[in-house]
Amino acid sequence: MRILVLGGAGYIGSHTVYELIEAGEDVVIVDNLLTGFREAIHPQATFYEGDIRDRTFMDCVFEKEKIDGVIHFAASSQVGESMKDPLKYYSNNLCGTETLLESMVAHGIDKIVFSSTAATYGEPENIPIKENDRTLPTNCYGETKLSMEKMFKWTANAHNLRYVSLRYFNACGAHPNGKIGEAHSPETHLIPLILQVPNGQREYISVFGNDYDTKDGTCVRDYIHVNDLAQAHILAMKYLMNGGESDIFNLGNGVGFTVKEVIETAREVTGHPIPAKEEMRRSGDPSTLIASSEKAKTVLGWNPQYADLRVIIDTAWRWHQSHPNGYKIEG
Ligand code: UFG
Repeated sequence: MRILVLGGAGYIGSHTVYELIEAGEDVVIVDNLLTGFREAIHPQATFYEGDIRDRTFMDCVFEKEKIDGVIHFAASSQVGESMKDPLKYYSNNLCGTETLLESMVAHGIDKIVFSSTAATYGEPENIPIKENDRTLPTNCYGETKLSMEKMFKWTANAHNLRYVSLRYFNACGAHPNGKIGEAHSPETHLIPLILQVPNGQREYISVFGNDYDTKDGTCVRDYIHVNDLAQAHILAMKYLMNGGESDIFNLGNGVGFTVKEVIETAREVTGHPIPAKEEMRRSGDPSTLIASSEKAKTVLGWNPQYADLRVIIDTAWRWHQSHPNGYKIEG
C-alpha cells in the first residue's frame, strides 16, 4: 500500500507512520509543521511540507504520488484553544477537510481513515460509551470533529468514497524505540505534565477538581497508548482495502483511571514523590469518559498491547527523560 498520512509529523501521526513503515508499507507525509516536528518524520517517508487547505498543493501531491488511501490527522486539537479561537478550528479542521475531500474526489482517491475524538460525545449518557450513543460536543474542537465526520458521511454518500472514523479517548505514551513521543506547546495533557515534576521542570501537578462523582472525587479517563492507536489506523485502512463499509469506531482500553490514580502510578514508575495540589475544576471537563471498544475489536480485529497504565507511563517517562524539551533541544 502507498498511504498518504496528513499530519504525519504530529504526535499520533508520527507513531502511525513508524508502524506503517515497520509493517512494510510505503508512506507519503503531508504536514504544515505548525504543530508537527520535522524531527518526528520517519526518514523513509516521502515528505511534502504544505497545508491541506491549499488545493493546488494537494492536487500536486495526488498527481505526483500514486496514493491507495489517506490517513487524516491534520487538525488543530486543543480543547481550550478551540473555545478561545473557534474560527481557527473551523478553518483548519473543517475548511481543510473540505479542500482535501474535493481534491480526493477529483483524483478518484476513495479510502480515508480519519482521526476523531471522544470529545464528539460531550457529557456521556452511558458508561462505557458506545459509538451510537448521543453526540453532543461541549467544546468547539469536538464540534468540528463531529462536523468532519458528517462531511465524510455525506461525501461518501454522493461520491464513490468510503471512510473510517476513529474516536480516540486519552492518547498517551511514546514509541518504545525512544525516537518519537508526545510534544505539545503549550502542553495541557495530564501525563506529560505529571512527568515534568520528576524531570525538574515543574514543582507540582495541579489536580483539577476533587468533588466529581467518582471513587476519589477526581476525573476518570480511559488512557490508550499511541502505538495501539497507530495499529488501529493500519487495521482500519486494511478493512477499507478489503471492501469494508464506512463506519465509526471508539478506541480506548475500556478501563478508567482517576487523576489521582494516574499520579500515583507515575510516582511508582519514576520513584519520585510528585507533589500534587488540589485546585478548582477545569471548565468543560466531563467527570468520566470510558470507551466501549468492542466494535473495533470485533470488526477490525484490534487488540491493544499496552493495557497496563504502568507500562504506558513507563514509555512516556523514557521519552520525556531523554527529550525534556520535546524535539527542540535533546537532553
Ligand atoms: N488534569 C489535571 N491536571 C492537569 C491536566 C489535566 O487534573 O494539569 C485532568 C483533567 O482535568 C482531566 C484529566 O486530567 O480530568 C485528563 O486531562 P487531559 O487534558 O490530559 O485530557 P482530556 O481528557 O481533557 O482530553 C482528552 C484529549 C482531547 C479530547 C478529550 C475528549 O486530550 O483531545 O480527551 O474528551 F478532546
